[in-house]
Amino acid sequence: MTENKRSKRYLITSALPYANGPLHVGHLAGAYIPADIYARYLRLTGEDVLYICGSDEHGAAITMRAKQEDTTPQAIVDKYHETNKADFDKIGMSFDIYHRTSSDLHRETSSAFFKALYDKGVFTEQVSEQYYDAEYDQFLADRYIKGTCPKCGNEEAYGDQCERCGSALSPTDLINPVSTLSGNKPELKTTKHWFLPMDRYQEQVKNWIEAAQGTEKWKKHVLGQCRSWFQDGLQPRSMTRDLNWGVPVPLEGAEGKVLYVWLDAPIGYISATKALTDDWASYWQSEDTKLVHFIGKDNIVFHCIIFPMLLQLRGEGYVLPTNVPANQFMNLEGDKMSTSRNHVVGVSSFLEDFPGQEDVLRYVLSMNMPENKDSDFSWSDLQARNNNELVAILGNFVNRVLVLTNKYFGGEIPEIPAAVETALEAQTAAIYDSLKAFPKTLDTLVHKYEFRNALSELMNVARMGNKFLTDTEPWKLFKTDADTTAGILRTCLDIIAVIAVYAEPFLPFTAPKLRGYLNLNEAEVKAIIEGAFRTAAGRKIEKGAHLFGRIDDAAIQLQQDKLAAAKAANEAKAEGPSYEPVKDTIQYDDFMKMDIRTGTITTAEKMKKAKKLLQLTVDLGFEQRTVVSGIAEHYTPEEVIGQKVLLLANLAPRKLRGVESQGMILMAESGGKLHFVSPGDAENGSGVS
Ligand code: MF3
Ligand code: ZN
Repeated sequence: MTENKRSKRYLITSALPYANGPLHVGHLAGAYIPADIYARYLRLTGEDVLYICGSDEHGAAITMRAKQEDTTPQAIVDKYHETNKADFDKIGMSFDIYHRTSSDLHRETSSAFFKALYDKGVFTEQVSEQYYDAEYDQFLADRYIKGTCPKCGNEEAYGDQCERCGSALSPTDLINPVSTLSGNKPELKTTKHWFLPMDRYQEQVKNWIEAAQGTEKWKKHVLGQCRSWFQDGLQPRSMTRDLNWGVPVPLEGAEGKVLYVWLDAPIGYISATKALTDDWASYWQSEDTKLVHFIGKDNIVFHCIIFPMLLQLRGEGYVLPTNVPANQFMNLEGDKMSTSRNHVVGVSSFLEDFPGQEDVLRYVLSMNMPENKDSDFSWSDLQARNNNELVAILGNFVNRVLVLTNKYFGGEIPEIPAAVETALEAQTAAIYDSLKAFPKTLDTLVHKYEFRNALSELMNVARMGNKFLTDTEPWKLFKTDADTTAGILRTCLDIIAVIAVYAEPFLPFTAPKLRGYLNLNEAEVKAIIEGAFRTAAGRKIEKGAHLFGRIDDAAIQLQQDKLAAAKAANEAKAEGPSYEPVKDTIQYDDFMKMDIRTGTITTAEKMKKAKKLLQLTVDLGFEQRTVVSGIAEHYTPEEVIGQKVLLLANLAPRKLRGVESQGMILMAESGGKLHFVSPGDAENGSGVS
């Protein structure tokens, strides 16, 4: 379809996930499923596509995980690179390559990229005081430092970003900073870094983004975030870090320093392409390439501003993205997904519990994709969409048509007899018109990154077929009117053929089954894409099978219970021992006003009608005090006689149950129990300081 080609080449990327933990459905819905639909659709329609992904293996995400698991960063990336790659494979991601940023090729490529920019004088060199953790002998940037966000007061803000309000931060912005390594208050130490003075280059990136809207409008929330960064004014950002895990800075005097992970990671798209093909430059350094980055919303600034800025500064014909259709976040049962809280649905755990149901997951994630606002994944929705849509509409339609064709026509695609063509004309004409209009509609939606709507259109084709079958009831007709029955089934088979072809980007496990049921060959697939809507009469079809199975309540309950158990475990963990907050600060003088003395309890008796109180005599050496103390539920009078105590001796006397109490005994409380505070062997009457 040359007339339909919009670009010579497509370069499609999905954010390189950190190789630091298992993938969950939120990842899939954000940056992977939409990109895979797009890539598969473009390949289907004959475009030249490279779809690039891989593991992001540098940065604090990795080193902190290594510390948690008590192992090396290398061991972490080796482990999670393999498991993530396998998970993506299982769920049918059609990457042309799944590369990794710890590879030599990537280290060379990103190092050379940095050096080229350095040689052009793009960076500024700055010696400054940075936070430093002496215990770990490490400078504290990004996630290595936490504190209170100056903008919103979140006490858990990181050195690069506040996750609550989304502000970009630097470590020195944090109020009460602490090292996430040791928990210590950091000190300041001087160090040298290379900065990208983004303020200087803001104008050229801004102009490019505004001009790009003339080619293809970006999503509102993406453009909105970019404009707000420009409005606040871009700040210089250090492109190097004092860490020992990453790509070494290729400069003299930069020993022990590595490239900022957000400099090296996006260059990973380029090195992955290099690993894939020697022809990489004709994708990356060509005006004929359409580059599209699929990401989650937390990656917008890096893909819309920083990486394009680096590419612009590099020059040499490097392509800038035509669009960055970032998705928002997907929640789980109304709550933010979180791996650490175990509030997630892992890709591999889903497939263990629902084997062979890859497309069910893909379907539900696609229909709920957070394209423009946050969305929610819920188990009851998964069940409903499976049972009411995949099973009841698509699966049911296909199955009924195959069964009836086998029963009445020996499994051969029937011709529509001429007379019948006239009888059913009005209905079939409408159906074939819809089939003809459908590819154009789909094409427009996919090219606008409206994948939810695109998939809904595909389901509408199945809906149309299902309704036609139910309305015409060929199973009642066959005995009296075999010709009309033939016409109906033939029309339905043509509908299935169109679905079989266009389901591929959305339901890649189901589409080949459908093609197989109809024995569609490559040439027919191509013919359908080019606008022919007729299957070959007389060709044998298969018996088919149920494409989807119902998911029952028990299976859903099991998953809901799993989440509830994780939640309960978390709450129990969070409760742990709880401590009263420390009271307001007092001055030394306030403390010095208290006169605390050592004494010995010499008499003790229960007070009448007061369950909690004992009346005591305390010998302070220089005088005897009467004290009423609320310890009767903890100690018997016999137990306390002879007990050494500390007494607040200048507390204003107070009458309790008619007895004047002349001081207060200090007790330590824990777990609802009271313990005497011991003065050790101090003499009665001696004070405390
Ligand atoms: N690893 C990053 C994340 O998960 C994404 C990196 S995308 C790249 O947020 F472009 F930098 F590779
Ligand atoms: Zn904040």
